[in-house]
Amino acid sequence: MKESKKRPENGLLISPIQNGTVIDHIKAGEALTVLKILGITGSTEESLSIATNVLSNTTGTKKDIVKISDRELSKGEVNKIALISPNATINIIRNYRVVEKVGVEIPDVLTGVVKCPNPGCITNSNEPIETKFEVVDETLHCLYCDNIITSDFVEYIV
Ligand code: CTP
Ligand code: ZN
Repeated sequence: MKESKKRPENGLLISPIQNGTVIDHIKAGEALTVLKILGITGSTEESLSIATNVLSNTTGTKKDIVKISDRELSKGEVNKIALISPNATINIIRNYRVVEKVGVEIPDVLTGVVKCPNPGCITNSNEPIETKFEVVDETLHCLYCDNIITSDFVEYIV
């Protein structure tokens, strides 16, 4: 088992965590959006460490990292961030060890993550209806109003 006592990212003092989830290789600058999509705000309970625009030891390019102590995120939760950060890895940490490492996968249907840009869509009315998009290649297809959006124009519900 690999130990975590190795060189911190780019010399930054962002400590290893004992238990929880590390979301690594987040697209540089997107850590705060990732947290918002996951519903994690300053007023929720988790202890967070966030590093933005740090150099990755492995790729030599910039990335963001989010460490969430004492909470193991489910695959369904983390896949919500796949559109903005398709190369993110999710590391589950128990007793300082990485016990699981998975990449994020863009889900077939995205629920409650993205806004429908059609003002007439029922998801933009006062009805308590979560948005639902079928993900087809680079496009999102609203399952309520058939609107199609390309992933470059996605607006997140945060
Ligand atoms: N990590 C942590 N606390 C631990 C163990 C690991 O915060 N107790 C973090 C590391 O800092 C790293 C991520 O979890 O950001 C993954 O750890 P590890 O697999 O050891 O790092 P790498 O081999 O660099 O991962 P990858 O190959 O996915 O880049
Ligand atoms: Zn719609």
